[in-house]
Amino acid sequence: MTLFKKEISHEKTVAVFPGSFDPVTVGHIDLIERSAVVFDEVVVAVACNQEKTPLFTVEERIKMIEQVFSHNLQVKVETFSGLLIDYLIKREAHVIIRGLRAVSDFEYEFQMALMNRKLAPGIETFFMTSSALYTYVSSRIVKELASLGGDVSDLVHPLVEKKIKAKYSS
Ligand code: PNS
Repeated sequence: MTLFKKEISHEKTVAVFPGSFDPVTVGHIDLIERSAVVFDEVVVAVACNQEKTPLFTVEERIKMIEQVFSHNLQVKVETFSGLLIDYLIKREAHVIIRGLRAVSDFEYEFQMALMNRKLAPGIETFFMTSSALYTYVSSRIVKELASLGGDVSDLVHPLVEKKIKAKYSS
C-alpha cells in the first residue's frame, strides 16, 4: 500500500476512521477533514455495542456525522460490529486512522495498533496528531459538560449541540 497511490495508479485510497462518536466532536471533524486531504475516501466507521449506555443511538450518530459532512463527498459514514480488522477486510480497506491528543492516549492506541497488525499484517494504522486547539476535547467531556448545563458550542458542530441539548432537556 503506497500513500499518494493515485499519482502512480488509478486505485482509490480508502482510509477508515473508526470510533464511538457519541457524539462527534470538533476534534473528530478536524481529523476527518485533514484525512480527506490525504486519502481519496474516508469512511467514518461508527462502532456498535461499544458502550452499554450511549447518549445517542448508532443511527443518530451516523445521521449527525452525515449531516456535518454533507458537503464533502469524500466522507462516507457506516457502522460496524465485531473486530475492526474484519470490517476493513470486508471493505477492502488497508488503512486505519486514529487521532492522538496527548501522551495519555498513546499506550492504548499503541496496543490496539499492534493487536490489529498481528491480526491483519496488511492493514496499517496511521496516527494523526489532533490540532492543538482540540487536545482537551473528548466525547466524554462534552457529555459531562452538557449534562451539567455547560456551554459546548466550541466543542461540537451547531447541529450536534442542538441534539445534545434536546437529549438533556427531555
Ligand atoms: O472512540 P473510541 O472509543 O476510541 O473507539 C474505539 C474503537 C471502536 C475504534 C475500538 O474499540 C475498536 O476498534 N473496537 C472494535 C473491536 C476491535 O477490533 N478491537 C481491537 C482489537 S482487540
